[in-house]
Amino acid sequence: MTRKRPLTASAAPFLILALLFPTGTACADPLPQPIAFPHMVHVTGYGFDCLYCHSSADKSQYANIPSVWKCMTCHRTIATDKPEVKKLAQYWQEKKPVPWNKVIDVPNHVYFPHWKMVNAKVACLTCHPGMEHAWVAEQKREFGMGMCMDCHRIRKASIDCWTCHY
Ligand code: HEC
Ligand code: HEC
Ligand code: HEC
Ligand code: HEC
Ligand code: HEC
Repeated sequence: MTRKRPLTASAAPFLILALLFPTGTACADPLPQPIAFPHMVHVTGYGFDCLYCHSSADKSQYANIPSVWKCMTCHRTIATDKPEVKKLAQYWQEKKPVPWNKVIDVPNHVYFPHWKMVNAKVACLTCHPGMEHAWVAEQKREFGMGMCMDCHRIRKASIDCWTCHY
């Protein structure tokens, strides 16, 4: 994956947010994003399906982030006066992708075929709880080896070491 956390980002905004919105369950403070994209508005407000935007989540090893083009299918006409949507239109005009910061990452030595779990009917929100209400994407569930193993035992999926480790 090419998208990485910015190492140079100042911690100050995180600390302020953490003080204002203590959650206790969050694994990391929310990352700043180039556009404040509200899952809350799109998913809960307008009922757009997760797979409408993350369309490779049931087809490939990695779930995708939708392209600027996909956003613009609506935002050429919707909410064009809003500052965050203007930022989006700017990327579109400059033909640049939005440099979203990656929120969730499993270590490189772990094989996580996203589509296999989605096709086994594990719900998105089982692993990404709260995303339907998120104003800022945040990981609220730790992806340690224990959580993978617990569910694999319950669902009778493989727990052989080489299932998840290259
Ligand atoms: C209208 C498009 C859209 C819909 C619908 C949508 N998302 Fe997203 N999602 C995005 C965008 C854009 C990002 C990247 C920006 C961000 O992280 O805030 C993102 C980020 C994420 C991330 C974090 C990815 C990372 O960086 O690691 C997760 C997890 C996620 N979405 C899950 C979901 C789930 C679950 C649903 C359904 C409940 C959903 N999304 C619905 C557009 C969408
Ligand atoms: C299927 C249509 C659709 C798609 C695709 C879509 N949006 Fe939206 N978006 C909406 C609607 C509807 C609203 C609510 C507009 C309103 O309340 O005025 C909205 C609101 C927003 C807002 C909040 C604007 C504000 O400040 O009130 C942002 C930011 C935004 N969208 C960004 C994005 C981005 C980035 C993408 C692509 C990842 C995207 N949208 C994809 C329909 C869409
Ligand atoms: C069994 C748990 C699980 C389920 C179910 C699941 N995810 Fe994920 N998702 C993960 C993990 C773990 C990662 C991090 C993968 C990585 O770093 O390679 C991830 C990453 C993502 C990302 C970020 C991709 C990126 O490269 O930034 C998005 C978006 C996402 N998931 C959306 C979804 C959607 C939409 C669904 C339902 C259709 C879903 N996920 C179902 C565990 C899950
Ligand atoms: C909530 C339940 C759940 C969680 C959490 C979960 N998995 Fe899975 N996983 C499944 C199911 C169900 C399957 C499908 C098994 C099948 O197709 O027979 C699966 C399949 C897989 C496969 C493919 C196995 C094969 O035999 O092809 C891999 C690899 C995998 N998971 C890795 C992971 C990793 C790594 C994590 C943690 C980051 C994780 N899983 C978390 C339920 C889960
Ligand atoms: C269902 C998936 C899955 C299976 C099966 C699995 N692991 Fe893991 N393993 C993970 C994940 C996810 C991590 C990363 C955990 C983290 O980042 O905290 C991990 C991390 C590790 C690490 C590194 C520990 C660390 O602190 O980073 C070792 C060593 C390891 N696993 C060994 C094993 C061995 C040995 C087995 C077989 C008994 C096994 N794993 C089976 C998912 C799995």
